[in-house]
Amino acid sequence: MYEIQNAERLNVPAVSRAKLEYALNEALKKIDYALPVFTELFPSEASRGSVYEAQSNLTSGGWNTGFWSGILWHAYELTGEKKYRDTVLEHQLPSFLERIEKKLGVNHHDMGFLYVPSCVAAYKLTGSELGKQAALLAAEHLFSRYHPEAGFIQAWGDLDDPNAYRLIIDCLMNLPLLYWASEVTGDSRFADAAYTHYQTTRQVILRPDGSTYHTCFFDPVTHLPEKCVTHQGASNDSAWSRGQAWGIYGPLLTYLHHKDPSAMEMFRETTSYYLNHLPADFIPYWDLCFTDGDGQPKDSSAAAIALAGMLEGIRHMEDADPMKPSVSGAIACTMNSLIDGYLTKDVPQANGLLLHASYSVPHNNGVDEINIWGDYFYMEALHRMLDPQWNPYW
Ligand code: GLY
Repeated sequence: MYEIQNAERLNVPAVSRAKLEYALNEALKKIDYALPVFTELFPSEASRGSVYEAQSNLTSGGWNTGFWSGILWHAYELTGEKKYRDTVLEHQLPSFLERIEKKLGVNHHDMGFLYVPSCVAAYKLTGSELGKQAALLAAEHLFSRYHPEAGFIQAWGDLDDPNAYRLIIDCLMNLPLLYWASEVTGDSRFADAAYTHYQTTRQVILRPDGSTYHTCFFDPVTHLPEKCVTHQGASNDSAWSRGQAWGIYGPLLTYLHHKDPSAMEMFRETTSYYLNHLPADFIPYWDLCFTDGDGQPKDSSAAAIALAGMLEGIRHMEDADPMKPSVSGAIACTMNSLIDGYLTKDVPQANGLLLHASYSVPHNNGVDEINIWGDYFYMEALHRMLDPQWNPYW
């Protein structure tokens, strides 16, 4: 099950500190270039012609404004420069609070993506009461989307819409908001719902070969799983690269809180499948069914997410674990490839970090562009590699 094919290609030394510092320096140049525009406003989810447009947190309706605040938190932690911290605290957190108080653009489950890298991080790093208040409201909202009779959190749309009675793999990344809310309030219902959602997701979404479905519908009458399909992948039976990456990192965020061995097992299965389906430069095409020569766009954001996930996963692997050298090698190969071939440093107008990301190829949305979550997880990965003791916001 966990056999890594061509494991010898992963046999490379760790990325040098000098190279990581060079990459951080390049990232900070782009962040500083973007900061004057994205102070109160936020980068759009994907760039157009390698340039993010500006969006308001209150009208965006999406799932991604938290990533820019998260990038600024990483920049603050890595440099100690107060301008990053103050931008989030003074100019961004109030809009996260207003957004959840007024329920603007939150008819979906992505409260973790929105509120963990922004508000939970603010609370953990500075004790911000505003961050805590906004994140707790967001956790309550996420909890309101939990269907106890079926044991899952509904991804999108109205809760009484039978056609929207489904979960998606991405939601594993929203669960830390609920675990955190239980820790802060002492109210176990958030963590209980999160853990049940994790168990349901694992049951329905993980295939025997370690690949994953993107989304599963449930029967609104029997509450049993009905059919699993894709939304952003190439086909119902393939593995959408970013979904697979959420399936690498996501279970570890439950493992951090529950130490359930099945979460580590899921990490191993999804990681093995992912590593066995990477092209020559270790950066996947947008679906793992494609490889070199197929003429398809890449999704560097999937690589960045998988990289950050592997950096968390390896923390929990014993030295004697036979899979550990492959994960260690995959971390080095992925980071080397991102730094060597995917940085925006030679694209002067680019106001993000990583080229060749794809939001949704089937919807022709943000294809071969920069996207803000790719940038976020790349920064997180850099941070993790520069400071292995880093304390996750998740
Ligand atoms: N969470 C949405 C996506 O990955 O596109």
